[in-house]
Amino acid sequence: MPGLVSARELDRAKSDQLISRASRFLDEGGGPLLAGSVIGLLFYSDSLRTRAGFEVAAANLSARTFVVSGARHTPVMSMAEPVQDAVRSIAGWCDAICVRHPDATLVGELAELIDVPIVNCGNGEDEHPTQALADVFAISRIRGSIDGLRLAVVGDLAGMRAVHSLMLLLGNYRDVFVRCVSPPGLQMPVQYLGGFASSTNTIEHSARARLDDVEVVYVAGLPRHTRVEVSDADRAHLSVTREALRRARPGVRVLCPLPRIDEIAQEVDATPEAFYFEQSRLALFMRMAILTELVRPPR
Ligand code: CP
Repeated sequence: MPGLVSARELDRAKSDQLISRASRFLDEGGGPLLAGSVIGLLFYSDSLRTRAGFEVAAANLSARTFVVSGARHTPVMSMAEPVQDAVRSIAGWCDAICVRHPDATLVGELAELIDVPIVNCGNGEDEHPTQALADVFAISRIRGSIDGLRLAVVGDLAGMRAVHSLMLLLGNYRDVFVRCVSPPGLQMPVQYLGGFASSTNTIEHSARARLDDVEVVYVAGLPRHTRVEVSDADRAHLSVTREALRRARPGVRVLCPLPRIDEIAQEVDATPEAFYFEQSRLALFMRMAILTELVRPPR
């Protein structure tokens, strides 16, 4: 894997291999596998989990990290320094560069500019492939296999990038059912559904959050400002509450890449259905798996 810009680059074998490796790190911990390596973390938009998670993952593998948290733009500069110049400048010192940027196409362009692996940590509203790998790892911990999964994804499916990458990954598996639940105007874009078009997988689109026949509810997120205004009634309908869980299939698990606003009521946190903080914990081991896949430590 030269880098990771899109979940489209991951076939089933690679995804399964990363899940196995993450499981090993979970069981056995890390070690000095990347000693002497340097990972650049370029975050041009906000992050808590992804940025800190890659810092800790790198430390667990004895790699060093540094953070760049936005373009330099001083009063004497007529414009901010282009991210291309920043990436070209640091590429000579890094063994991988993790990038988050609000532009949907830029991360792919950066990967073409330099020989160092680029890891897409969120490019605008397009993709978040490392989160999706963490998500399938969490699902594998819940039910063993991804094949045969029955899943509802809920929220702004047009604009939330992690669920786009998740759909691309799930398209590699068999007999997966996904109910895409979104307010009107925020449906899942068709370009992320290729793996569902000609396979044993099934997809259903709905504005109603029916949960009684799914094993996992993936709360993709419903920000306050979406491209289409969401009514308070729709927002309340899509919120996962204890009451909503009473109508869900017994044993259902709730996943969420986080952060949340009110998409999952805080009262859910203490229920056995809540799996999102465990998902966040598990993501560390997937990030370790991704780094060891991409980074070739110096000899
Ligand atoms: N899930 C996720 O990407 O979280 P952060 O925005 O905190 O990195």
